[in-house]
Amino acid sequence: MNEQQKYEDAVMQDAIRYVKDTGKLIMELMKMPLQIQEKKNQADLVTEVDVRIEHLLRNQIHRDYPDHWILSEETDGGREDSHHALKQPPAGYGWIIDPVDGTINFIHNIAHFAISVGIVKDGIPVGGVVYNPVTDELYSGRKQGGAFLNGRPLHVGREQDIAQALLATGFRAIDWKPNSVVVEQIGRMTGKVRSVRIMGAASLDLCLVASGRLSGFWHDGLYPWDVTAGMVILQEAGGELTNAAGKPFALSDDTLVASNSFLHQEILSLLV
Ligand code: IPD
Ligand code: CA
Ligand code: CA
Ligand code: CA
Repeated sequence: MNEQQKYEDAVMQDAIRYVKDTGKLIMELMKMPLQIQEKKNQADLVTEVDVRIEHLLRNQIHRDYPDHWILSEETDGGREDSHHALKQPPAGYGWIIDPVDGTINFIHNIAHFAISVGIVKDGIPVGGVVYNPVTDELYSGRKQGGAFLNGRPLHVGREQDIAQALLATGFRAIDWKPNSVVVEQIGRMTGKVRSVRIMGAASLDLCLVASGRLSGFWHDGLYPWDVTAGMVILQEAGGELTNAAGKPFALSDDTLVASNSFLHQEILSLLV
C-alpha cells in the first residue's frame, strides 16, 4: 500500500465505525412513531431520523476530519443551485452522505434501506460504505483495495445470458410527474431478461450488483449521495458502470447503468 492508500484505508475504517454507530441509532429510533415531512412533493419525504442520522455523521466527520468537505442530502439537497451544480464535487477529500437511502421503504417499514457514505478525492470516488442496519449487511469498498460484504470479498455475478439476468431500476425523484421512459424501458426488457425489480434504494441496488445477486441496474436522475459509495463497491467487485452512451460514469451524468460487465452492452442496447 502506498501512503495515499494507507490514509484512505484509515479513513474507511472510521467511516465504517460511524456508519455502524448510526445504524444502531436507527434501530432504536425505528421503535418510535416517525415524524414525516414532505419536501418538494408527496414522493419526496424526510423524517426526523434522516435528519438526526445526517447531523450525527456530519458532526463526527467535522470533529475527526476538519479539513474535509461534506455534501449530504438533507443539508445540501434543498440548495437553490441546480441539480447539476451539486453533481460537481470540490477539490480535496470530501464525504458524500445519504443518511437514509430508501426513505420511502423506511417509512413503509420495508427493511430495504441503507446509510450510504462515499469518500471522494479531487472529484474521484475512492471509498464507500453502504449499511443496511436491519439485515446487518455492511458493504464496503476502497479504490484498489477490493470490495467486501461484512468483511468477505465481493464479486459480481458471471451470468452472460441476458435471459438469466435479474435487473433493477427506479423512478427519478426530482420530477414527480407522469413519466413513461422507465416504464417503456421495462417493457422492452420483459421477455428478454428474467425479470426487473424496483427495490427503492439505489445504493443497495449497486451493492446487489456487486454481490452477484442482481446482474444489472439502471437509473436516471440520481444524486451523488445515492451513488458515490455504491460506485466504488461495484467497481471494486469487478462490475462496469457507465452513462447511457457507454462512457465511464461520472457523478455529473444523468443516466447510470451498472452491470456484472458481461451483460453491459446488451443492457445498454435495450435501454434506447
Ligand atoms: C431514493 C432511492 C430510490 C431512487 C430515488 C432516490 P432517497 O433516495 O435511492 O431508490 O429511485 O430516485 O431518490 O430519497 O430514499 O434517499
Ligand atoms: Ca430523499
Ligand atoms: Ca437516496
Ligand atoms: Ca435519503
